[in-house]
Amino acid sequence: MAKDSLVIFDTTLRDGEQSPGASMTREEKVRIAKMLEKMGVDVIEAGFAIASQGDFESVRAVAEAVKNSRICSLARSSAKDIERAGEALKPAARSRIHTFIATSPIHMDYKLRMKPDQVVDEAVRAVTLSRNFTDDVEFSCEDASRSEFDFLCRIIEKVIAAGAGTINLPDTVGYAEPQEYGALIGRLMNSISNADKAVFSVHCHNDLGLAVANSLSAVLQGARQVECTINGLGERAGNASLEEIVMAVRTRADVFPVETRIDATQIVPTSRLVSSITGFPVQPNKAIVGANAFAHESGIHQDGVLKYRETYEIMRAEDVGWNANKLVLGKHSGRAAFKARLTELGISFDSDEAFMDAFSRFKDLADKKHEIFDEDLQALVSEVVPVDGGEKYRYLAMECHSQTGTQPSARLSMSVDGKEHSVEAEGDGPVDAAFKAIEKLVNSGTRLKLYSVNAITQGTDSQGEVTVRLEQDNVIVNGNGADTDIIVASVKAYLNALNLLSSGAMRTHPQKEGV
Ligand code: KIV
Ligand code: ZN
Repeated sequence: MAKDSLVIFDTTLRDGEQSPGASMTREEKVRIAKMLEKMGVDVIEAGFAIASQGDFESVRAVAEAVKNSRICSLARSSAKDIERAGEALKPAARSRIHTFIATSPIHMDYKLRMKPDQVVDEAVRAVTLSRNFTDDVEFSCEDASRSEFDFLCRIIEKVIAAGAGTINLPDTVGYAEPQEYGALIGRLMNSISNADKAVFSVHCHNDLGLAVANSLSAVLQGARQVECTINGLGERAGNASLEEIVMAVRTRADVFPVETRIDATQIVPTSRLVSSITGFPVQPNKAIVGANAFAHESGIHQDGVLKYRETYEIMRAEDVGWNANKLVLGKHSGRAAFKARLTELGISFDSDEAFMDAFSRFKDLADKKHEIFDEDLQALVSEVVPVDGGEKYRYLAMECHSQTGTQPSARLSMSVDGKEHSVEAEGDGPVDAAFKAIEKLVNSGTRLKLYSVNAITQGTDSQGEVTVRLEQDNVIVNGNGADTDIIVASVKAYLNALNLLSSGAMRTHPQKEGV
């Protein structure tokens, strides 16, 4: 029997970005969106156009760059939100407005201060207005899992009649449990008279670690769209993870009556890209994309797998894109090969100058590290400041001293607005000394919120990829830096964060703007 299609709606660029500290620049969003398109994601929620000028421009840039996935913007139910979303989506080949209003008593009483009848009217108005901008409108009942059943039926029937083609039932606070949530979706689909005119969708948060289980339970009861994110990124404990949903329905095709369009071999490269851009490492034991997801430690397992793979493996690592990071370039690769590979990775540059800058970083890296993988290229591009105004701060050279029994110190050469400076400081360790040296010179007034180091590829010659999260006046930025020397990588990441702050490329978090 032919299977139903399960629409994969990725919200890494919107709900994913609502993870504190996960802000992305416009160019980073476009890079991720291109990967999602390559992977075959059906709908990409590119942002929340009204949240800020930066978000508006990101939605627009994604709508311009991506043609094979539908591009969506979130909008509350107000006219100004919807008009802004419609405007941002103008360049899209296929667009969707995703409008929402809360439907639970607690949200209606305390947050919206609206009566249920007013909420219904507002929802219908929002959907009707959205239809003036696009024929694809999604309506979400925020906090659906804590809403009253009869009220959900009433509002959903009305918004479908007004033209909503997708009805989304978020478990906004991650409170639901699989049995109950699946039953809610099934019961709504059976009770609403015009339910057959819409696709029912789920959007689950992971506060109790149940986001994927809840989503899949709903799929078994008839939901045909799942909203999810790469690596499960998202507000608080995150959203359902795209890779787990996709691989569950594929691996258990005997259980799930649906199929997706996803090219699973793009999963691991996309996971790496999102992790590298946001600075959120993937835990080693994370399903599908964790470093240990396919590693067998016990002798019994290894023996079994060698004799017959399926004794202990339910999926093949290569099917989800492990080992896809083929050796791409080396010391002798020229500009054309470098550009061609970046194009394949969906990376482009606004100017020749930015391209030549990346190329010269590539040459420096190739001198130190002979095998250059896709991940190395992604990291290399992540530290080039992708905004107008270029780099205010630039790393030039460093000398570090660290010896048992002595105070570690760092002497750093860096340029500020093109002028070279040399500065020295001591610290608790060489990284601390290097950061203190930078601050001695620039006195940025920022607060360090996170420092993390990851190996980009395997082996001791791998580049260390460092994320430095800085906060200044409520703006949080993630700076990235990569180098075979992790202290240099740390300095690059710190300077990258300062450059992002000084360029104004990052927006404040939507919640902080009171949106
Ligand atoms: O979690 C939620 O309720 C949301 C909606 C805006 C869809 O993210
Ligand atoms: Zn959400």
